[in-house]
Amino acid sequence: MVLNTLSGRFLGLMVLFVLIAEVLFFVPSMTRFRLDYLQNRVEMAQLAALALLATPPDSEIAPDLKDEILATADVLNVVLRRDDVRELMFESPLPDMVQETFDLRAPSRLALARDALRVFAADRDRIIRVIGRSNQGAQSEIEVTLHEWPLRQAMIDHGRRILLVSLVVSLALAAMLFLAVQRLMVRPIGRVVEHMTAYRDDPMDASRIIAPESGARELREAETALHELEVQLTSALRQKERLAGLGAAVAKISHDLRNMLTTAQLLTDRIEASNDPAVRWTAPKLVGSLARAISLCERTLTFGKAEELPPEPVDLPLAALVAEVLDNERAAAAGCVSLVSEVPAGLRVRADADQLFRVLSNLVRNAAQAIETVGKPGAVKVTATEIDGRSEIRVRDTGPGMPEKARENLFQPFRGSVRQGGSGLGLVIAADLVRGHGGSLILEETGPRGSTFRISLPAPGAQRRAG
Ligand SMILES: Nc1ncnc2c1ncn2[C@@H]1O[C@H](COP(=O)(O)OP(=O)(O)OP(=O)(O)O)[C@@H](O)[C@H]1O
Ligand SMILES: [Mg+2]
Repeated sequence: MVLNTLSGRFLGLMVLFVLIAEVLFFVPSMTRFRLDYLQNRVEMAQLAALALLATPPDSEIAPDLKDEILATADVLNVVLRRDDVRELMFESPLPDMVQETFDLRAPSRLALARDALRVFAADRDRIIRVIGRSNQGAQSEIEVTLHEWPLRQAMIDHGRRILLVSLVVSLALAAMLFLAVQRLMVRPIGRVVEHMTAYRDDPMDASRIIAPESGARELREAETALHELEVQLTSALRQKERLAGLGAAVAKISHDLRNMLTTAQLLTDRIEASNDPAVRWTAPKLVGSLARAISLCERTLTFGKAEELPPEPVDLPLAALVAEVLDNERAAAAGCVSLVSEVPAGLRVRADADQLFRVLSNLVRNAAQAIETVGKPGAVKVTATEIDGRSEIRVRDTGPGMPEKARENLFQPFRGSVRQGGSGLGLVIAADLVRGHGGSLILEETGPRGSTFRISLPAPGAQRRAG
């Protein structure tokens, strides 16, 4: 259907508007035409009357000449009214009675329009009388009697001409508008749609991204917005693809790593049996670390992707968990770093123990590594408090502060790492895990005197009150 298209609709609207304009224009035009026609008759009659008045009273005008004058003026009778005296100037026999009288001296617009339309409605000739002002002075008038049918014919001819002209004009206008709409809107929109379809078929192909080039501001804005959207989408898809590849690799690595760790776990049994007390002290920590590593591998494999399972939060004593984290990290950290816990003994938090362990390990390890880069002794301190229904855990260090690149790309995967051998995932993973608990991880402060990260979690009490 033509009306389903933009240009078809414009065409339809154009025809409708032209029709409305035609009606609005037609009635006043016909009114004017009738008024001019009648006034013209009155003026002709007046000229004839003036000529007659100018002839000497005793000279007789030939009847032929009178008939000719009446025929030229296209009227039947002419009466001159002066100071309420009616004087019949020209006359010819009336074929019928005068059926209606129209006064042109002070006509209302509405009455003129109505009378003009009534002429069209007439089905036979009528004899009408028209009274017009004479320019012989305020007191004199001209009255003419005439056939209405020729007026009707003239009006029909005039109407036809108007309709024909406006039809041609409106057709030309409609054609121009159609072409303009086609050129200015339909084609550019079609181009955008074409681009979108091509892009949809292969969004990874960056050459299919639309290049804004429309001259019209609105379309150009739409194209620019679409361009930005496509650029973002393509890069997101690429990253997704890379991450999918990484996920597959992680799954494979997890699989083999789990096997290796399981073997290592079996070997720790022997270490536990050692006579050396230092070795026996290490053994349970080693077993714990290996168990956590195996569980992480298994969870990754179960999920099939490098994504986290939802946490299983429980109320747990924080001090013990932090002590365990610090014990573990102490084994990895250099001697110049001291790891201190200032977590109040009775403080409990609501969290998935394994996940919180990983969060704290990441933060403490980052802090220790930062201190190591300076090469001077330093400390990492873990503190905790419960405030306004939230458990707040802080990991503070006396390191050199976050490098600019790390600050700018904070919590963005693969981007923030400044450390050699660092993957730039530690903080992202930590932040994700905390978010999974309904909490938040922020960099509270950083500077030459050290950095502080703050974990904020819903406190166990708050959880129960909310539940
Ligand atoms: N406490 C800190 N003090 C100074 N810099 C830090 C601190 N914590 C993190 N950073 C900086 O932020 C960067 C990103 O840390 P993140 O843990 O995300 O990655 P990474 O430690 O480089 O690698 P990995 O993924 O193995 O942990 C680090 O490379 C380091 O430069
Ligand atoms: Mg790290």
